[in-house]
Amino acid sequence: MGGGFAPEGPAAAPTPFTVLGLMSGTSVDAIDLALVRFRPDTDDPSLLHGELLATGETAWDPGIRRDMLQMLPPRRSGVAEWNRLHAAVGEGLGRAAAGFLAHHGARPGLDVQLVVSHGQTLHHWVREDGTVGGSLQIGDPHRIHAATGVPVLSDLRSADIAAGGQGAPLAPLLDSLLFGDCPTAALNLGGISNITIVGVAGGITGGDVGPANALMDAAVAEATTGRDTCDVDGRLAARGRIHDDLLQALLADPFYRRPFPRSTGREYFTGDYVAQRAGALADVDLPDLLATLVELTARTVRDAVSAYPVERVVGSGGGMRNPVLRARLAQLLGERGITLRDASDLGVPADAKEAVLMAVIGWCTAHGLPGVLPGADGTGALTGARSTQILGSLTPARPPAAWPVSRTPLMPRRLVLTGGA
Ligand SMILES: Nc1ncnc2c1ncn2[C@@H]1O[C@H](COP(=O)(O)OP(=O)(O)O)[C@@H](O)[C@H]1O
Ligand SMILES: [Mg+2]
Repeated sequence: MGGGFAPEGPAAAPTPFTVLGLMSGTSVDAIDLALVRFRPDTDDPSLLHGELLATGETAWDPGIRRDMLQMLPPRRSGVAEWNRLHAAVGEGLGRAAAGFLAHHGARPGLDVQLVVSHGQTLHHWVREDGTVGGSLQIGDPHRIHAATGVPVLSDLRSADIAAGGQGAPLAPLLDSLLFGDCPTAALNLGGISNITIVGVAGGITGGDVGPANALMDAAVAEATTGRDTCDVDGRLAARGRIHDDLLQALLADPFYRRPFPRSTGREYFTGDYVAQRAGALADVDLPDLLATLVELTARTVRDAVSAYPVERVVGSGGGMRNPVLRARLAQLLGERGITLRDASDLGVPADAKEAVLMAVIGWCTAHGLPGVLPGADGTGALTGARSTQILGSLTPARPPAAWPVSRTPLMPRRLVLTGGA
């Protein structure tokens, strides 16, 4: 994709800044990658150009994937496993990043200034009152740095959470930049579905809608004892029947009535969520369960979207590759006069959109800009935080310019400690 690494002509200005975004979502299916060369417009300071040099996807090593899924609630796991996986996931991310850069002939440091790694979420801690206490992503950034030689930005949610926010949604930053000129709901159908509402009076808003692929994948994995990871092309759901009692029991979850911004994850929509929520009603065969879960996703998205005066839904994420889900969603939205578009048709690769988001967050941080938008009323942050934050932590550590590092040019051989108790 794009123009590759052709040398810049003498008139080229300002300096481009190229970022590799790495994303692995709640489905734990693959690492999505996007290499984006950013360049502010020479005439219009409100315009940022992003050239998609390459996008791609690297499947997780099946062993790492299995181990990650086995750590998710309701299963119990211990700190030794976390530690081991933090290293293994970091190595997996580093391998994927280094392989991708090599494949596209991008020289670390010369052609790529920054890698942004979301990491793999193990736990997103939402309190009873809907506020977020913490969000844990693993994948050691030092391993990614060791593999690529490029500085790594990671831990993208903690600054926002420390300022009282949900640490989510992050997507509105990109969605508002891309789609803000028209009343739009940007929808991502990952393990969890999320939307951003842009281009409407009342300001930008968004958050997690509910489960998309997570419950369907879990049902398929359980029924096939792990042999299959998803309902490929919705083939099973297509021959299933929707169980209305089960659907109503699932729709009764108070989560769907929480106001935006709201966030959730696989610690809430667990592999045994359907059985926990619906009891004996959950006892249906696999095609029927999948048909009912498709309907749950389509309805919850339709209801969330149609609360706003949007004209179109721009869809991305793996759920857009499920024709049964996609068709049902298009039908339900169509009944409300809303068109379902594929992000790819608007020039945004649907499977790499979140990786592009990571790259954009990296560009913001590198320029000292916040990675979350202000709240709809112009105060605080859209995530519910008290103020907008610059996101992430940089690896390797670099002394800030304000520190007096120049006065200690040599590694000392001795420390004389004075004072103390
Ligand atoms: N051809 C397909 N048919 C049905 N489902 C699909 C297909 N391709 C992808 N998916 C679903 O999309 C999921 C991955 O979507 P993705 O956007 O990567 O989610 P996440 O961001 O949570 O990782 C898979 O786990 C699977 O459930
Ligand atoms: Mg994925």
